[in-house]
Amino acid sequence: MKRGLFITFEGMDGTGKSTQINLLKDRLAGEGHDVVLLREPGGTSISEKIREIILDNNNSEMCSTAEMMLYAAARAQLVEEVIKPALNSNKIVICDRFLDSSIAYQAFGRELGDAVEVVNRFAINGTMPDLTIFLRAGVSLGAGRIKNREKDRIEMAPSDFHRRVYEGYAFLEREYPERIVGIDAEDSIENISKKIWDAVAGHREKL
Ligand code: TYD
Repeated sequence: MKRGLFITFEGMDGTGKSTQINLLKDRLAGEGHDVVLLREPGGTSISEKIREIILDNNNSEMCSTAEMMLYAAARAQLVEEVIKPALNSNKIVICDRFLDSSIAYQAFGRELGDAVEVVNRFAINGTMPDLTIFLRAGVSLGAGRIKNREKDRIEMAPSDFHRRVYEGYAFLEREYPERIVGIDAEDSIENISKKIWDAVAGHREKL
């Protein structure tokens, strides 16, 4: 079966993911590629409704297991409804966060452990990213950048949580060196964008 290219972006909050995602999308589209841009949780009407529930600050009583399963449910819907069909039509799918976020935030941050991987492997049903760009930054960089804006329920979590998320990403980078390309988020926008382009170039023979 013909298959497009599936690229995900990962990193702590406030590491400049959106800027880089837009630069990459524009460059690929400029070369004539059909690019589908998505963000998690979200990207379908069901997944956007789940997003509202997860991020709502009024839902402070939400237990970690419910949170983890809601992310996985939003993801399952996005894979079936949008990602799989787009890849089968040979498109490039760029997703702002995917299952690595659940490993970092729920398995490590919320300390839910291995169950997160099991549930999420079931949710994505084999649709793994070809390439994951990880914007790596110290805990303090992201925290500083989001300090002045209104925070959602996840961003409000205490700093210990964010330290564990940081460790989760470090674990993922070590565990999947072939899929995950880590880039220093404190570098200039131009340099980061060039490194991302180099990483993507290595996969474009798939198109
Ligand atoms: P969002 O506003 O999209 O943040 P960002 O711009 O940093 O991606 O909110 C998503 C939040 O949800 C973010 O704090 C990370 C968190 N998250 C998880 O905890 N687990 C997940 O599986 C995903 C996809 C996101």
